[in-house]
Amino acid sequence: MSSIESLFVTRIYRAALAEQGKPMDTSDLEASCWSIAQDDEAGQNWCDENGYPGYTSYASLTDLPYRFPIFKDLVKVLNKHVRIFAKDLELDLDGRKLVLEDIWINILPTGGVHTSHIHPHSVISGTTYVAVPDGASAIKFEDPRLQMMMAAPPRLKSARRELQSFHYQQPAPGDVLLWESWLRHEVPVNMAEDERISVSFNYAWA
Ligand SMILES: [Fe+2]
Repeated sequence: MSSIESLFVTRIYRAALAEQGKPMDTSDLEASCWSIAQDDEAGQNWCDENGYPGYTSYASLTDLPYRFPIFKDLVKVLNKHVRIFAKDLELDLDGRKLVLEDIWINILPTGGVHTSHIHPHSVISGTTYVAVPDGASAIKFEDPRLQMMMAAPPRLKSARRELQSFHYQQPAPGDVLLWESWLRHEVPVNMAEDERISVSFNYAWA
């Protein structure tokens, strides 16, 4: 009796933030992201010097949840989503916890991209979406085995979702996506006329 199994799976979690806790007003969050970005001169300078399109607080603000109550509320909700995902992944945390390590704002203007990367030193990474205007980029995930496929044919365009080498998620405002931090991802060029705003984060094994 023959069998074909799916093994070594890659899990991606998607939910509305509001599924775990009180609904968050994304327009409040958006207003906070803009006002933080406008006040954060160190962050603006970092983006200019590093050719980063738009704005990120990643290099300049390490204490968003302590400085801004709305981020504190957000982290409380994210903790719950991460706990659910870690359970689904059946991680053996050996009595230790996954704790928030970094959380940062991304404001991606028209034509901006965020090239392919992973999030080192973390276990679970993710993004929650604040403003996703029409035409805004999806997030693109890449099969982690891609670099081992030098001589392999590509998959059919019609291949089943779980067999495709790339996976796109088009988020809606108020959604949260989670993945294991080793999973390579990118944000292709933002074709929207307005900024695509998101908040990204890393959880480490503490
Ligand atoms: Fe990322």
